[in-house]
Amino acid sequence: MDIDVRPSEDAEKYLATDQLVWFGEVTDADIEHLRLGLPEDQRFAVDLPDGPQDLHSGVYGVRPMEMSLPGGSVVPIAGLTWVGVHPDSRRRGVLVAMMTDHLARTHDDGIAISALHASEAAIYGRYGYGIAALTHQVDLGRGTTFTAPHLEDEVAGITTQLVTMSDPGVAERMRACQLAHAGDFPGTIVGSSDFFSLMSLEPPEQLRDKERRRIIFARRNGEDVGFTGLRREDKWENARPSGTVVVGTFTGGPAARLALARRVVDLDLMGTTKLENIGLDDPILGWVGGPRGTGDIKTWDSTWVRLVDLGAAWPLRAYEADCDVVVEVEDRYAPWNAGRWRLTASAGSGSAERTDAAADLTLDVNVLGAGFLGHGIGGLLRAGLVSEHRPGAYAELARALRTLVAPEPSIGF
Ligand SMILES: CC(C)(COP(=O)(O)OP(=O)(O)OC[C@H]1O[C@@H](n2cnc3c(N)ncnc32)[C@H](O)[C@@H]1OP(=O)(O)O)[C@@H](O)C(=O)NCCC(=O)NCCS
Repeated sequence: MDIDVRPSEDAEKYLATDQLVWFGEVTDADIEHLRLGLPEDQRFAVDLPDGPQDLHSGVYGVRPMEMSLPGGSVVPIAGLTWVGVHPDSRRRGVLVAMMTDHLARTHDDGIAISALHASEAAIYGRYGYGIAALTHQVDLGRGTTFTAPHLEDEVAGITTQLVTMSDPGVAERMRACQLAHAGDFPGTIVGSSDFFSLMSLEPPEQLRDKERRRIIFARRNGEDVGFTGLRREDKWENARPSGTVVVGTFTGGPAARLALARRVVDLDLMGTTKLENIGLDDPILGWVGGPRGTGDIKTWDSTWVRLVDLGAAWPLRAYEADCDVVVEVEDRYAPWNAGRWRLTASAGSGSAERTDAAADLTLDVNVLGAGFLGHGIGGLLRAGLVSEHRPGAYAELARALRTLVAPEPSIGF
């Protein structure tokens, strides 16, 4: 059956479908979340002929965002989100139709990359998305010591300032600061101004007993050089304060991050600090002496990347090693990518050209997405997830894609 995917023209129906799929509390602020989160022309819906009348059979949306790549370029991406299928319309191919539609539209719009955060790990690999950045969640005790002798001079010039995210001007400062540092931390995803306003929107129903999200800026000579967001959770145990500080993504260079990290483990009335989004090679682990210097550490998938237009995407980033490989790319949902490509990297620059030469490798496009931000993909050959026809060719490709430091995880969207 051919399933039609169209732009959604009914904001209330679109929102109500999402509310059913995600079954959270419905609040008056939800329509504002939709307005700020998804431009009207980036909302898409499916209505199966025998589907629900009052709701859509499926919805998805795209946030226009920017992402930094190895080498420092910051490029537009399609941030796939709000993906949901009505419970009565599931397992009938609605998602397949929506993903096919998303890839075709993104390609037509000239956007080379789509990215997402996955609700469940099993969903998106088949559509060509690969896990491109991992994230650590790290618990630290109050007063954790961070040792970084070669950063101390720089840290000495940095002060911190605590503000509330919804205060006027704070979201704009955050966005400007994140954009300024994105190039130094490949994998950073920067949302639109509306997306930052959306993050500051905290209606009372959503807060309940929580405090408003606070932002701590790191400042040098009167300029913002970094920030992180946090919320304190109150708890008393055995007459002692033992609350948790939940801390979001860090932005800024290493010295700013160190100043911020010291600040968030030193807040009065708190016992534990939970860092929710720390890159695999984040300096925190070096500063505390490794994983056992933390209270606890967990690892999850962060950004999933999909090369929507392989030929356009490949030259957008820089490469730390050379390669020259012919790759047979399998791509069921973006057939314009499928077939044989000569992928090269030389003196840092990449080029992707069609070729008839014999393939050195056969792989799914999701492997290239997984490696695109610099995350190591060398193990996939041993895992039997790629097929090598010329010995050494996969190592060549994996080395070229890999960066010295693992990519930055992104904030959830
Ligand atoms: C995930 C979801 C969108 C799938 O929609 P759907 O219309 O049922 O999916 P389709 O019928 O198009 O299925 C396509 C394929 O994906 C598989 N699939 C779908 N959801 C899956 C899941 N959660 N886990 C594993 N496989 C899944 C199907 O089995 C099918 O496989 P096949 O092609 O081998 O038969 C839907 O279940 C849903 O709305 N879930 C709740 C919200 C959610 O998780 N959204 C994702 C946000 S990131």
